Amino acid sequence: MTIKICIIGAGYVGLVSATCLAELGASVTCVDVDAAKIARLSRGELPIYEPRLPDLLDRARASGRLRFAIDPAEAVRDADVVFIAVGTPTRRGDGHADLSHVLAAARQIAPHLRPDALVVTKSTVPVGTTRQLQRLLAASNPGARVASNPEFLREGSAVHDFMHPDRIVFGVDCARDERLLHAVYAPLVTRGTRTVTASIETAELIKYASNAFLATKLSFLSELTELSEATGADIDGVTAGMALDPRIGAQYLAPGPGFGGSCLPKDVKGYLRTAQQHGVSCRVVETVMEANAAHQARMVRKIRGALGGSEAGKTIAVLGLTFKADTDDMRYAPALAILPSLADRGAHLRAHDPQGMREARPWLPPEVTMWPELDTLCDDADCVVVMTEWPQYRHLDLARIATRMNRAVMVDLRNLFDPARMSDLGFAYHGVGRQSRPHGGKSLAAPRAALA
Ligand code: NAD
Ligand code: UGA
Repeated sequence: MTIKICIIGAGYVGLVSATCLAELGASVTCVDVDAAKIARLSRGELPIYEPRLPDLLDRARASGRLRFAIDPAEAVRDADVVFIAVGTPTRRGDGHADLSHVLAAARQIAPHLRPDALVVTKSTVPVGTTRQLQRLLAASNPGARVASNPEFLREGSAVHDFMHPDRIVFGVDCARDERLLHAVYAPLVTRGTRTVTASIETAELIKYASNAFLATKLSFLSELTELSEATGADIDGVTAGMALDPRIGAQYLAPGPGFGGSCLPKDVKGYLRTAQQHGVSCRVVETVMEANAAHQARMVRKIRGALGGSEAGKTIAVLGLTFKADTDDMRYAPALAILPSLADRGAHLRAHDPQGMREARPWLPPEVTMWPELDTLCDDADCVVVMTEWPQYRHLDLARIATRMNRAVMVDLRNLFDPARMSDLGFAYHGVGRQSRPHGGKSLAAPRAALA
């Protein structure tokens, strides 16, 4: 029997989940309040950039197993399982997760659900939210069944992550609900994907704890980059040595300009608010956002130092704007913290991004010019800053770029390039957690103190 699924929310998670579940054989209706988004999706146009999603969407639409709708009443009427995948951003003012979209979605579907439908939170929600939803649904259906099935996909590799997850977490009240969720993911489970079955509250906390832990790892790494620079060590060597210990692991150790994105920052705050509500002190996680902000401020000083101590009147070419490669998502991108600080002090900024320029424009000050022509981005610039690790930047003709810049200075906030090669090409090169090479090319050698 084909399982009938309704997904509420057609954003990064809802859309990817809907498309992938249709690919796995379910009959899926994906609902969103944004009529323009649904109209585009119904025509086969994607509102977001996500690799591999266009082909999968075409296949799902052609198979007849995926459709899009704006009316939740009609969409949930037949559904065996309804996933709620709407946004849970940080609530303005108090740092709690804003549950208004989740609760609104529940109110909209409540009167129209089948009595035996299972309503599942896929959105990241604080512990207790799924129970709150159950109480809300019970007003229309006293036997309302709920479950938690948090999502762990990453933007940029969302389709791969959904189809090949490390684990699938089922937060359920009973064996019947667990069986139903197993059936939804049957093609992945039979392939050997590990599943975790737990209480609803445990499943909700697994998600927050995972993101809070990942953010903690990155803030630790940011501080380690500064320690590496200060001691004459090299971060790549340090992490390579650490990564051989399986208890530490090789993943999530790539230095950068600080973490961003729509989830880690908000979920660290959500985790802390939950802890506070329960009178639990989480001192380690309390410092994570502060360390991330301090790291981003240090990246500003690093760029200033590479420019000889002042960015006023200097032209800075910026490679990449999005919070990571392979996405157009600008939510909490480090560029939004770093570039305005440089613009405030009189820098002229030009920025290129393969997918993010349209999203980025409203968030950046007018001193940042969007520069779609990668070929001329660095012409006459005083410094080029690598902000995002887009793979195409690895293939730039750096020798040509060095000759066309006013000063061949690179601040590589993703350690995309090899310092020795950059020096050979004539660049003054400054990476993250690496020793700077200030003597190459036409660069003004920055005083070491200014590079700190
Ligand atoms: P998003 O902002 O991209 O999409 C949310 C969508 O929900 C929007 O299209 C919005 O119009 C729609 N929506 C809001 N209220 C609605 C309603 N009442 N009915 C129907 N549609 C409604 O959000 P996202 O990035 O997909 O995140 C969704 C949830 O998944 C969040 O809780 C997030 O923390 C979690 N999550 C996100 C990711 C990620 O990589 N983005 C990964 C794992 C988990
Ligand atoms: C993150 C988690 O990795 C997902 O498991 C989770 O599902 C998701 O949040 C969520 O809950 O929304 P995402 O934000 O898409 O996924 O991207 P990540 O790959 O985790 O990167 C987050 C930030 O950390 C980016 O700014 C990235 O550049 C940075 N990062 C990541 C590093 O600086 N170094 C690394 O080694 C890894």
